[in-house]
Amino acid sequence: MKWLRSVALALLAVAPPVSFLNALEKQPSSAYRARRVALAGKLHGGVAVWFAAEEPELDFDPYRQDPDFYYLTGWNEPGAALLIVGEASEPVARPYREVLFLPTRNLLIEKYTGPKLDAASPGVTQATGVDEVQPMTELPAQLNRLIAADRRLARNLWAQPDNAQAKALLSWTGATLGEAGAPPPRDVSRLTMELRQVKDTGEIDLLKKATEASIAAQRVMMRSVKPGVTERAVAGKMTAVWYEHGCERDAYAPIVGSGINSTTLHYSENSRTIEDGDIVVVDAACEYSMYASDITRTVPANGHFTPRQREIYDVVLGAQQAAVDAFVVGKSTINDRDRKDPNSLDTAAYNYIDTHGKDLHGEPLGKYWLHGLGHMVGIDVHDPADYPAVLKPGMVFTIEPGVYIPEEKLGVRIECDFLVAPDGKLIDLDAALPHTAGEVEGALREK
Ligand code: GLY
Ligand code: MN
Repeated sequence: MKWLRSVALALLAVAPPVSFLNALEKQPSSAYRARRVALAGKLHGGVAVWFAAEEPELDFDPYRQDPDFYYLTGWNEPGAALLIVGEASEPVARPYREVLFLPTRNLLIEKYTGPKLDAASPGVTQATGVDEVQPMTELPAQLNRLIAADRRLARNLWAQPDNAQAKALLSWTGATLGEAGAPPPRDVSRLTMELRQVKDTGEIDLLKKATEASIAAQRVMMRSVKPGVTERAVAGKMTAVWYEHGCERDAYAPIVGSGINSTTLHYSENSRTIEDGDIVVVDAACEYSMYASDITRTVPANGHFTPRQREIYDVVLGAQQAAVDAFVVGKSTINDRDRKDPNSLDTAAYNYIDTHGKDLHGEPLGKYWLHGLGHMVGIDVHDPADYPAVLKPGMVFTIEPGVYIPEEKLGVRIECDFLVAPDGKLIDLDAALPHTAGEVEGALREK
């Protein structure tokens, strides 16, 4: 590996950055720029600043870019900052501007974590796709100059809430301007949240690739689950599949819950050995180029659901179908945990569960469903949204009803990812994966 780093550093010195520096599949630079421009349109003439994720303190720990920062830049290196100046005309005219600030390179750390670019690297503007690239040392100076030219800006600054670098920057900038008493910044993540909910076609392609890899892994799961195999071994086989598909990581800790563990919603210890007669909830999916998938299937360990397992399975599948049938674009909502919204898909699914099947005491099953019906999916497996969220074209979300009855060691969850197409129709992104109990049993017989 050492020779590879030396070659990389030598190349950096003489040539524009090359693709091995970034293994993620990127969208064209114009897509990220369009998002920055759209964001600027929401600033009311203000100025926004974002900080990238920092390299982990222990260099062998995993690194993942800040989701909003990635959404706006496609830039995957740590420690950068982005400044966006919203266009303004009165009383001080300011044109739209975007500046990416890159930290000073640390050649010692680069020996551990690989080469980075800084503002002096040849070809850096083209590599980043941002109009201007400057050294990070310029960021406080730029902010000082902007506010000095228009003092009202001190009250129209947008930044990530609770970000240590943002707090330090704004505090220091206040000190440089004699504005120590300026109000805290406005929450810029509210603006990115609005934009991120509606995916563009490039994002949808990436989400589909994450889903394809996750489907392949779920199929391998269906061939791997059997009595005597550990939950963790099943998770490991799935993980191998998505690495083979070019995915960079799990979208969340894989959940392989057999027997009683099927009733623990986010069980991810995966330490039990699967037994004959168990039902197994497998909620596991991956990320492709920073975009997540989120899929759950529930399977019988020995290849055949018992009549009772199948009865509960059919109730959960029926609830998912009830939600799909109830969907009306621009009106239906998702993740209405109190079920107070008559338009929520949660209400449709809950009503189905509560009126179909019974527990061992003859009681309705509604009380065995404990979570929201679904959530947005994107760069985060739980993409940000204000819930209950109205579902519109371009949105991608899960529908994942479940029934969990500890007394019977019987949990069932079925989770699919849906895209709202431009014509308002719902598209099941994991349609290719078994859905019905019969289809699941068929896939298990393929072993
Ligand atoms: N797949 C985990 C969750 O949605 O909470
Ligand atoms: Mn989910």
